[in-house]
Amino acid sequence: MNNSAIGVFDSGLGGLTCVKELNKLIPNENIIYFGDNARVPYGARGRETILEYAKQDIAFIKKHNVKMIIAACGTVSSVLGCGKTSDGDIPFSGVLLPAAQAACGITKNGKIGVIGTDTTIKSGAYGKAIRGIRPDISVIGNSCPLFVPLVENGFTDRDNPVTKLVVEQYLAPIKREGVDTLILGCTHYPIIRDAISDYMGENVSIISSGEEAAKYAFKMLMSKEMLSERNEKGTNTYYT
Ligand code: DGL
Repeated sequence: MNNSAIGVFDSGLGGLTCVKELNKLIPNENIIYFGDNARVPYGARGRETILEYAKQDIAFIKKHNVKMIIAACGTVSSVLGCGKTSDGDIPFSGVLLPAAQAACGITKNGKIGVIGTDTTIKSGAYGKAIRGIRPDISVIGNSCPLFVPLVENGFTDRDNPVTKLVVEQYLAPIKREGVDTLILGCTHYPIIRDAISDYMGENVSIISSGEEAAKYAFKMLMSKEMLSERNEKGTNTYYT
């Protein structure tokens, strides 16, 4: 048992989709959240810059005596890959593997769509993670660079005409391929989930990478016997 906080970071507010799920699953845990809003978006930056930012984000989070770190950012996770499972002696998870596992478990027709930032999609990291689990699956990816600014600027309503138009523009090629599962590979995207699922239709299962990372972290802490034994509700502390 361990009562220290779980550290969660993202380039901005997208990682809160992971925090929301953590609060639901393990409400007695303390959470330290860091959103690097001064430097968002990460997704159009080069690999070296993102690695450097991630190093700084992790260093900040570690000052708060956390028992686990979650990179609730698809872009950072794609650059780091699935191999990083600890930072020093602290368990670590990104969003890549949790989302890939969930999608592989859900798809029936073996066609999975992945949307994310430019860097995420160019890295091909989701495809690699998915094929590592199920080599028979075809993955159709598309980057959606306008989604993060839309979310950060509050264009989140399902009926917002600008958001609807951008959603259609980015998702049309994926819908055409007949995917039955869509990974929201950037943690900002679940915030416009309604507009996305309205366009994709009810037969397409939507996977939130942030939510899946929360479920994965819960299982990881449980298997390591590191869940909190606190009886009362935990606290969320936000840094930006
Ligand atoms: N939430 C981040 C992600 O999951 C947003 C990326 C960005 O800052 O461009 O990729």
